[in-house]
Amino acid sequence: MEHALPRKILLGITGGIAAYKAPYLVRALVKAGAEVQVVMTPSAHDFVTPLALATVSKRPVLSELFVRDGSGRWNDHVHLARWADVMLIAPASANTLGKMAQGLCDNLLLACYLSAECPVFVAPAMDLEMYRDTGVQANLGALKERGVRTIGPAHGELASGLVGEGRMTEPDDIVTALHMALVGSSKLAGKRILITAGPTQEAIDPVRYIGNRSTGKMGFALAEEAAWRGAHVELVTGPVALTTDRAGITRSDVVSAAQMAEACKTRFPDCDVAIASAAVADWRPADPAANKMKKGSALGALTLEPTEDILAWMGGVKTATQSLVGFALETDNEMAHAVGKLTRKNLDLVVLNSLRDAGAGFGHDTNQVTLLTRNNDPEALPLMSKAAVAQRILDRLETLLPDA
Ligand code: CTP
Repeated sequence: MEHALPRKILLGITGGIAAYKAPYLVRALVKAGAEVQVVMTPSAHDFVTPLALATVSKRPVLSELFVRDGSGRWNDHVHLARWADVMLIAPASANTLGKMAQGLCDNLLLACYLSAECPVFVAPAMDLEMYRDTGVQANLGALKERGVRTIGPAHGELASGLVGEGRMTEPDDIVTALHMALVGSSKLAGKRILITAGPTQEAIDPVRYIGNRSTGKMGFALAEEAAWRGAHVELVTGPVALTTDRAGITRSDVVSAAQMAEACKTRFPDCDVAIASAAVADWRPADPAANKMKKGSALGALTLEPTEDILAWMGGVKTATQSLVGFALETDNEMAHAVGKLTRKNLDLVVLNSLRDAGAGFGHDTNQVTLLTRNNDPEALPLMSKAAVAQRILDRLETLLPDA
């Protein structure tokens, strides 16, 4: 079974015979869409080469806390741990599990583990007597209590020739387990989501247009997060400089508000959720010139006409099983305007952006928003990355969706 797992994974490899399967595990993770950074313990080098792992992960493999070349450089475990969406230790030896349980830190992998705020998974691998040992079981129990999640071990033939529990779960099954734990539990898994993003451009003549400062970053972050949760994303975007190659996203490029409206009208009836994050032009030139207007010809006044409100259209046709999320970008009287939009456009959730907040809104990598629903108090979020804001918006949306 194919799984989409487009996440940043810090893969810790420890010294056990199952480490010979690590390159295959890296390939399986990469094939599922993951970015993989390998960190090895020193003894893992006895079982698998960094060259093989660097080749399949397309990243240098890290092992030491300190780079021993006299440069004084060191591998920043805090940065690595923050980079990762998930940490996976496979194979996890009895020795590393014990050190993790004790909070010890004599290599880079352990330093990363102690710094990690993200979900941590371990795939234990050892001989059956070792696995049954009370000390090992106590360590595993302590780690589980602290939230570390275990994958396996599996039952089968062991390197010793014995048969029993202790075998590392097969790489493909590890990918399946990660997918189920991280993606399969989302209410958005398997759902169809329409997301609008970016600005629109309204032609004045063939070369000039009326546009706005939207870059599409918030919409793309939402699309990537929704795809990560297993949704099928229909991303309808105005002209932006962004790319995404995440599995699960079907991108349609449009230019004008009219084109965006047309694209949404054909897609929305088949969608469970729509999120309108695009900054759609409210007006367009009523009579765009067919040929480029020469500067000699007096322009005079530009006559504008309103564009169709796509979100309001979706609010009007939405069924009881569809959910609708809108954005409100306000400069004054923010809360009242946003609440008005919630009812006027028949929305389930409004994401309020105030242009008064520093670091929020167009072009920034960060955003500061307030989430408004019909029956709950507004939830004001702190300034955070647009990727983190996307997670919070979808978390909130999931609370509004019926149980699967
Ligand atoms: N929107 C839309 N189509 C439009 C205009 C806006 O789908 N033609 C969507 C935006 O994507 C956003 C929400 O509507 O999710 C907010 O739009 P905004 O222009 O701020 O709200 P209006 O209701 O037009 O109110 P006002 O301009 O008075 O603030």
